Amino acid sequence: MKIAVLPGDGIGTEIVAEAVKVLNALDLKFEMETAPVGGAAYEVAGHPLPESTLKLAQEADAILFGAVGDWKYDKLDRPLRPEQAILGLRKAMGLFANFRPAICYEQLTHASSLKPELVAGLDILIIRELTGDIYFGQPRGRRIATDGHFPGAEEAFDTMRYSRPEIERIAHVAFQAAQKRSKRVTSVDKANVLETFQLWKDVMTEIGQQYPDVALDHMYVDNAAMQLVKEPKKFDVLVTGNMFGDILSDEASMLTGSIGMLPSASLNSKGQGLYEPSHGSAPDIAGKGIANPLATILSAAMMLRFSLKQPEAADRIENAVKAVLAQGLRTGDIYSEGTTKVNTVQMGDAVVKALG
Ligand code: NAI
Ligand code: MG
Repeated sequence: MKIAVLPGDGIGTEIVAEAVKVLNALDLKFEMETAPVGGAAYEVAGHPLPESTLKLAQEADAILFGAVGDWKYDKLDRPLRPEQAILGLRKAMGLFANFRPAICYEQLTHASSLKPELVAGLDILIIRELTGDIYFGQPRGRRIATDGHFPGAEEAFDTMRYSRPEIERIAHVAFQAAQKRSKRVTSVDKANVLETFQLWKDVMTEIGQQYPDVALDHMYVDNAAMQLVKEPKKFDVLVTGNMFGDILSDEASMLTGSIGMLPSASLNSKGQGLYEPSHGSAPDIAGKGIANPLATILSAAMMLRFSLKQPEAADRIENAVKAVLAQGLRTGDIYSEGTTKVNTVQMGDAVVKALG
């Protein structure tokens, strides 16, 4: 089992080190190889996704990814910015299906910014399409406007687009995931305004007919954003496009207590996967050793389950995470009175210990 380890920037290196520690504590044989990505790769190779890093990722069974980005690269041309590494990996490897389970662990019911009764027992799955939409659509750029409200002014433009097959394949992923859960899919769109999402809604409805055991409903994204904080438990599987999924999954992270708790898996049609926390490189706390490593450790568990076919090992990690939370150990982002504050390394050590 070959794992490409790409820590990246900021807290990426700190949290990935803890996930690697946990993987090494399992009695499984992994071949792990580390490569620079993002700003770290720009520093050594002049590019956020060097050829050698991409090759390592493509040849691995799975990729464990930290995070990329730092304010100090904001002035670079867009193709050289750290964030292009994660977009480039998703695109080059066709990682179109992004799974973001938002689970509120019993012990963190009070860490959420919502009332405990709204999030207690929460277990929803956000499935975000990851290789299309306005993040990748061409054309894009800047120009001098020749029409619109201010002809002659500088303007910028991006293109939102989805093709039928792109929507079909993510629809199948969502319906099949729902079959293993409570058999409900909510497709989130903006079909009332955007043609792209009218096609999305039409295709979701068509594919839904192939899954008569799954109930499908549609919701506009603005309403979905509201319902997620009003009555989050009424969702089960929520499927949406790249940009809406980006925003809604960050919103959903707050239901779980902290974005530091939210793992993710990004899969392609060959079963390869990239596993990363849903958060970014958190430059505001990088280097302080206080980041929550649990989202990354839980991402490693998803990697064991989805790409490496080691479900028992995945269960062991997830149970160990529950155990350390039950022991009252908390990093700063999930700390509350009466619990014990620990740093990144202490949290990783505690998970290793709880593996038994
Ligand atoms: P962010 O997710 O890095 O941070 C948002 C807030 O959450 C910050 O206050 C941060 O301290 C906190 N936070 C995040 N992860 C945490 C953890 N594990 N433990 C404790 N607190 C945590 O998002 P932000 O600040 O918008 O972006 C920072 C950089 O990360 C940017 O360069 C951005 O482009 C990049 N980014 C990269 C992603 C990736 O690599 N996949 C995803 C999102 C952002
Ligand atoms: Mg995001």
